[in-house]
Amino acid sequence: MRTQVGIVGAGPAGLLLSHLLALRGIDSGLVEIRSRAYCEARQRAGVLEDGAVRLLRAAGLAERLDRQGLEHGGIYLQFAGERHHIDFRALTGGRTVTVYAQTEVVKDLIAQRLAAGGAVHLDVTDTEVDRLTSDQPVLRFTDSAGTRHEVTCDAIAGCDGFHGICRPAIPVGLMTVREREYPYAWLGVLADVPPSTDELIYAHHRDGFALHSLRSPTVSRLYLQVDPDESADNWPDDRIWAELARRFDLPGSEWTLRQGPVLDKGVTPMRSFVSAPMRYGRLFLAGDAAHIVPPTGAKGLNLALADVATLAPALDGLLRGEDRLAAEYSATCLGRVWRATHFSWWMTTMLHRTPGADEMEAELQLAQLRYVVSSRAAATSLAENYTGYPELDTSSVRER
Ligand code: FAD
Ligand code: PHB
Repeated sequence: MRTQVGIVGAGPAGLLLSHLLALRGIDSGLVEIRSRAYCEARQRAGVLEDGAVRLLRAAGLAERLDRQGLEHGGIYLQFAGERHHIDFRALTGGRTVTVYAQTEVVKDLIAQRLAAGGAVHLDVTDTEVDRLTSDQPVLRFTDSAGTRHEVTCDAIAGCDGFHGICRPAIPVGLMTVREREYPYAWLGVLADVPPSTDELIYAHHRDGFALHSLRSPTVSRLYLQVDPDESADNWPDDRIWAELARRFDLPGSEWTLRQGPVLDKGVTPMRSFVSAPMRYGRLFLAGDAAHIVPPTGAKGLNLALADVATLAPALDGLLRGEDRLAAEYSATCLGRVWRATHFSWWMTTMLHRTPGADEMEAELQLAQLRYVVSSRAAATSLAENYTGYPELDTSSVRER
C-alpha cells in the first residue's frame, strides 16, 4: 500500500489534518485503534477559541457548529463568595469563544472524511512507524479483519495522543521533555439538566476548585477538584451535587444550582507536558502526542487544531520539495504551545487548592483574583489568552 501522508490517530488533530490535506489534493491514510462509537463518545473538551471556529469554518466544517455551537462573550470568576464577570467582547475588541463539545467536532470530522471517501481504518491493532529518517517512512498496522498492512508514505503525522506510539519512536536523546504533574485531578460530570448559568463559572473555594460548563440548553458539564488518586465510584450523585452546590454557593443571592441525573462521570489527571522538537525526520507530532496542558485554560483541543493548521501547508511544501515550512513547523507550533502552557498553569495554580498549602498561598491566590477582576489590564490579559493568543492565521487553509 502507498499513501502520501500516513496519519496515526483519529482524534481532532488526525481527522482535521486528513481533511486539510484533502483540500490541498494530498492523499492520506488514517489509522485508529478505537471504534468509531468510542471516538465519538469520549467526553473531553468543550470550548473552541475564536480562531478554532474560524479554522473549521474556513475548512467547510462548521455547518452544525454554526447551528448548535453556543457563543460565549465571557466567563465568571468566583471567589470569596463573590462572582465577577470577565467580558471578553469588551476587552478584546469583540472576540468570543464557542461551546461545542469535542465529541461533536469528532463526529463532524469522521462524517466528513467517510463521505469524502477518505481512507480511515478504525479498530486497528499493532500500529508501528519505521524508517522515519528516510524519505519513504513506513506505517504498519493490522486491520479489523486481522490483515497486516505496510504503507509506504512520504511523511507520517503522529496524532495519536499522549499514550500513542509515535512520540516514543523518537530517540530519547534527541528530545527535550518538560513536565509538571499537579497534586489534584478533576472529577468531570455530564448531567441531564439545563445549565444554571449563562457563562462558564470558574470557582475558587477553600475546599477546592469547581467549574460550571455546559453542552447544550438542556445538558450541563461540571467539574470538581478531587485528589489525584480519587475514584469516580466514591462519588454517588447526591455527594456530587452537594459538593458542587457548596463550592458555587453565593451567600445573599437568589442563585441556585439546578440538579439532575448524572449521565457520565470520570476523573482526569492534571499535567503540563511539552516534548520538543515536534519533528523527527519525516515524522511530525501534533496535538496531545507532543504536549498536554491542564484543562483549566480550555486549551488542549485548540492547540491540537492549531498544530494541524500549521502542519498541512508544511507537508504540502515538503511533498513539493520545499522544506522551509516543514523545517519551521516545530518552532512555529511551540511558540503557541508555550504561551498556552503558561496560561493553563497560571489559571490552574490561581484557582485550585494545593493540598497541604498554608494560608499564605490562599491569600496570594485571592490577591491575584482580585487584581484580575478589578484591573482592566489584568482582565484583558486573561481575555486575550482565553479567546486565543496569538490569533490563528487561517488564510492558508484552502491554498493551492
Ligand atoms: P486525542 O484526542 O487523544 O486523539 C488521539 C487518537 O489517537 C485517539 O483516538 C487514540 O485512540 C488514537 N491512538 C492512540 N494510540 C494509537 C495507536 N497506537 N494507533 C492508532 N491510533 C492511536 N481539553 C480541554 O480543553 N478541556 C477538557 O475538559 C479536557 N478534558 C480532557 C479529558 C481527558 C480524559 C483527556 C485525555 C483530555 C482532555 N482534554 C481536555 C484535552 C483534549 O481533549 C485534548 O487536548 C485533545 O483530545 C487533543 O486531540 P488529539 O487529536 O491531539 O489527541
Ligand atoms: C468543558 O466544557 O468541558 C470545559 C470548559 C472549560 C474548561 C475545561 C473544560 O476550562
